[in-house]
Amino acid sequence: MKTKNVLFIALASVMVIGGLTAMRLVKDPWQVPADYKTMKNKVPSSKNSIADGKEIFDMACASCHGAGGKGNGVKAKNLGIELYDLSTADYQSKFTDGEIYYQSFIGREKWHDFRKAVADENDRWNVVNYIRSLKK
Ligand code: HEC
Repeated sequence: MKTKNVLFIALASVMVIGGLTAMRLVKDPWQVPADYKTMKNKVPSSKNSIADGKEIFDMACASCHGAGGKGNGVKAKNLGIELYDLSTADYQSKFTDGEIYYQSFIGREKWHDFRKAVADENDRWNVVNYIRSLKK
């Protein structure tokens, strides 16, 4: 009887842990505070802005997000969490510039607060403009 209980508990734990792992792979929807959602992009998109944003992205972001934001950077496989392909119409139409700003520089949980790394407000919008320019 005791052995049976132990077996049952072991099996139940495996199922719970397995379930949690599976859940983690399904991406939680982004909940961005309303003031960020409606925040206005302070830098009009231009060739220069996009080029400056690309420089930052290639240096600080592409290792995970991949060249061109495809979500397939060298580190992407080991993150244990799904990344969007930032170039898809699906991603581009889902989020406002303010939401992309929030996702990029404030983030959630441990992914990722880059407010110190990219301290200049204009630089942050340049990155948002670059991400916008990836749209297929
Ligand atoms: C060490 C890996 C890593 C680096 C470097 C990184 N990110 Fe991310 N980023 C993530 C992860 C993981 C998520 C998903 C977080 C979540 O869904 O909770 C994410 C989410 C995002 C998102 C929302 C889209 C999505 O897939 O959820 C944007 C936009 C983004 N990051 C932009 C950037 C920018 C801009 C930089 C560089 C300044 C950057 N990231 C650097 C790992 C990284």
